[in-house]
Amino acid sequence: MSRLADKVALITGGASGLGRGIAQRFQEEGAITFISDVNAELGLRVADELGVHFLPQDVASETQWESVIADILGRSGQLDIMVNNAGIFSSAPIDETPLAQWQQVLDINLTGVFLGCKHAVRAMKNNPGGAGGSIINMSSVVGLRGQVGGSSYSASKGGVRLLTKTVAVENAAIGIRCNSIHPGIIDTPIMDPIFSAAPDADALRTQIASTLPIGYLGDPARDIGNMAVYLGADESIYLTGTEMVVDGGMTIGLPR
Ligand SMILES: NC(=O)c1ccc[n+]([C@@H]2O[C@H](COP(=O)([O-])OP(=O)(O)OC[C@H]3O[C@@H](n4cnc5c(N)ncnc54)[C@H](O)[C@@H]3O)[C@@H](O)[C@H]2O)c1
Repeated sequence: MSRLADKVALITGGASGLGRGIAQRFQEEGAITFISDVNAELGLRVADELGVHFLPQDVASETQWESVIADILGRSGQLDIMVNNAGIFSSAPIDETPLAQWQQVLDINLTGVFLGCKHAVRAMKNNPGGAGGSIINMSSVVGLRGQVGGSSYSASKGGVRLLTKTVAVENAAIGIRCNSIHPGIIDTPIMDPIFSAAPDADALRTQIASTLPIGYLGDPARDIGNMAVYLGADESIYLTGTEMVVDGGMTIGLPR
């Protein structure tokens, strides 16, 4: 269990869901793991439970990016893995989507990832052993296709997909890799509004699962955490700019 030994990693949105699952797997694989989150109370509690470091951060603020990266470099001297995971979901038909809602989703889901890539590349260029590192951006299957009600969310995740490829091609020659993960349906608190609006949340879970070729919903640590370990580790050294779809077969077609 040391695929990430001695690597320094930052995972945004690490207080919950996929970020927490990734942090758990990074810690198990020997990384020096930092999580950041806008929810400081939950972030501190989760960091304590997992044995990782917590930093408060709003990913949409560039000044906060500067201080978070400076803090990590001050404490650990390098940054090897950057997981731009923090995100929010919103759903409304486009003709009922307020501009402020569009803006908020883009600010967090896309500008937040842009800032994370920008400041991670700056840090990784100056790593003590020479330039190098792995940036992992959380997109979605909804970054590959449209979704009813998903104008702002889908636009933000589609933007993350191509931002990833640009960061990858700009920095491939100096050993900084950048890849995106495209989860399908993973049961995390981001899904709460959908399940809590249903008359029977468990029946809805079962119904959604039945539409997936694999037949069940994804798990944060097992499915996304393990993919992030692979992308962060040197074993994926020849992968950059690629799209890792982790969706139980959701995008290949209906099961029957
Ligand atoms: N769960 C899924 O099915 C699924 C599918 C595809 C993509 N995703 C993406 O995965 C990522 C994680 O989602 P999740 O399911 O774990 O959701 P979640 O709601 O459980 O966790 C998201 C975390 O991000 C934090 N956050 C929100 N805004 C922030 C900000 N401005 N700055 C810093 N932190 C902020 C939240 O406090 C929370 O801890 C998101 O980018 C989401 O779009 C999730």
